Amino acid sequence: MHPSPARPIIIDTDPGQDDAVAILLALASPELQVLGITTVAGNVPLALTTRNACILLELANRRDIPVHAGAIRPLVRPLVTAEHVHGKTGLDGPDLPEPTLAPAPEDAVAFIIRSLREQPPGSVTLCPLGPLTNIALALVRAPDIAPRIREIVLMGGGCFEGGNITPAAEFNIYVDPHAAEVVFRSGVPITMMPLDVTHQVLSTPARIAAIRAAGNRSGEVVAQMLEFFERFDVAKYQSDGGPLHDPCVIAYLLQPEIFQGRQVNIEIETRSELTMGMTVVDWWGVSGRPANARFMRQVDADAFFALLRERLARLP
Ligand code: RIB
Ligand code: CA
Repeated sequence: MHPSPARPIIIDTDPGQDDAVAILLALASPELQVLGITTVAGNVPLALTTRNACILLELANRRDIPVHAGAIRPLVRPLVTAEHVHGKTGLDGPDLPEPTLAPAPEDAVAFIIRSLREQPPGSVTLCPLGPLTNIALALVRAPDIAPRIREIVLMGGGCFEGGNITPAAEFNIYVDPHAAEVVFRSGVPITMMPLDVTHQVLSTPARIAAIRAAGNRSGEVVAQMLEFFERFDVAKYQSDGGPLHDPCVIAYLLQPEIFQGRQVNIEIETRSELTMGMTVVDWWGVSGRPANARFMRQVDADAFFALLRERLARLP
């Protein structure tokens, strides 16, 4: 029996240790065809997120995949970065060589638009792992691409878990709430991996040891990244490890059955400074507003880490 063709995806990202694990998981999974990696300012400035994407492709020996640099700042608000979580380089932890791979000359937004116009309608899934600036710019510059997008599976937002950069807002949405508003009002099918799910997948010492036990370079690099990345959340939440936010997006594409959620209405706060970037999730359907996204709320954490460990072991 012929395996079904690989699912084409574009990963839009601000690496970021958890972004890095998501990218490596995608590269290790033949079910997915990574058309390209587009970078955005977020965890660290654009020059570093772009450098980091190139480093990761070289680590995985996948120089065939293009990196396209995107927005250097959010649509309206000034850029807020997260070096306090990810370190100065955005990939603190392992000692990684400067990349020899350079980003492609075409910018991220042009690449996203061109790819969606060239690929069969409804075939491409967009996987934003950072602020949604590039996705919003593509939708505004080329509204014709909206019906051509199969699905947007993004990491961002929260509801019952509250926020992680303010009491009300999760970082990706907080950095560019206006871009998030464009995306959530686009009519494109959205699956959202919020803090409510990502805080259930903690990189405990045993889980990091299992990744390291594979004995490959990628496993060692990931282990060192996670041992750096976890310090912020362990100190803040007294948790037993760091939450693997962005890999939830890729794991959902590979094993959707380990996640559970609900189709609801989600709106973005863009006016109040107090709650700026809050995802207002109508979990109980009281607003009467139409459902526009699938809010994931449960994940089988052991299944998630079994998948992650097995796939990372396939890398160089
Ligand atoms: O709030 C978590 C999100 O913000 C993750 O995508 C992390 O990489 C940072 O971008
Ligand atoms: Ca990210």
